Amino acid sequence: MEGERPEELLESAFPFLELMSRYRCAMMEVETKLRVLDEEFSMTYNRNPFETIKSRLKKPISIIDKMRRKGMPLSVENIERTLNDIAGVRVICSFPDDIYALAAMLVKQDDIKLIGKKDYIAHPKPNGYRSLHLIVEVPIFLSNCKKYMRVEVQFRTIAMDFWASLEHKLKYKKEIDHSEEIAQELEACAEIISSMDERMQEIRNRIERG
Ligand code: GTP
Ligand code: MG
Repeated sequence: MEGERPEELLESAFPFLELMSRYRCAMMEVETKLRVLDEEFSMTYNRNPFETIKSRLKKPISIIDKMRRKGMPLSVENIERTLNDIAGVRVICSFPDDIYALAAMLVKQDDIKLIGKKDYIAHPKPNGYRSLHLIVEVPIFLSNCKKYMRVEVQFRTIAMDFWASLEHKLKYKKEIDHSEEIAQELEACAEIISSMDERMQEIRNRIERG
């Protein structure tokens, strides 16, 4: 801003930087909880319930864009109240059953509050998108208080992630919507991928039954 000295600029940015830091802590907390479950699972059952886990913080420009789209004035309070996906954790599982097992184990921890759930596996989006989305609140312990922060957790199989990654790429190649033919083709691919997930799950069930 014109006339503002660097230290004043920094001062005005501080509440926002502090907010982002709190989201980063919450994201680390959720990631650690999932890694702990993974560790225990591999000790007990000799296998890992997820393949990879990735965390990301929403970029400031995307926060500004989304708040503008929602017609909300920019303030730390409004951002916290309005947006659920500033902190995001994506968990890529091997089998569909692992998704529900892991999600249940996370949600039943007594410091986790489940705020929202979208089961796009039981109810895929019309375009074929599949994943389980949870919005959770996790406490972070600061020097003088405990604060609950929201984190979006997306659970997918490797197969669902394969589809979502490619669909995302294709979507952003062109600004225009896909033609009906391309949309149908993408949805058909999602169906094939989903039936592969089911078959792989069935193979695992057979092996486990012995
Ligand atoms: P956003 O405003 O995009 O966050 O949507 P929302 O608040 O309605 O949440 P929803 O749970 O439906 O989707 C959130 C996130 O899931 C997105 O930011 C993507 O990461 C992912 N997602 C949802 N739909 C699709 C889709 O059709 N294709 C792909 N590739 N990803 C999707
Ligand atoms: Mg989002």
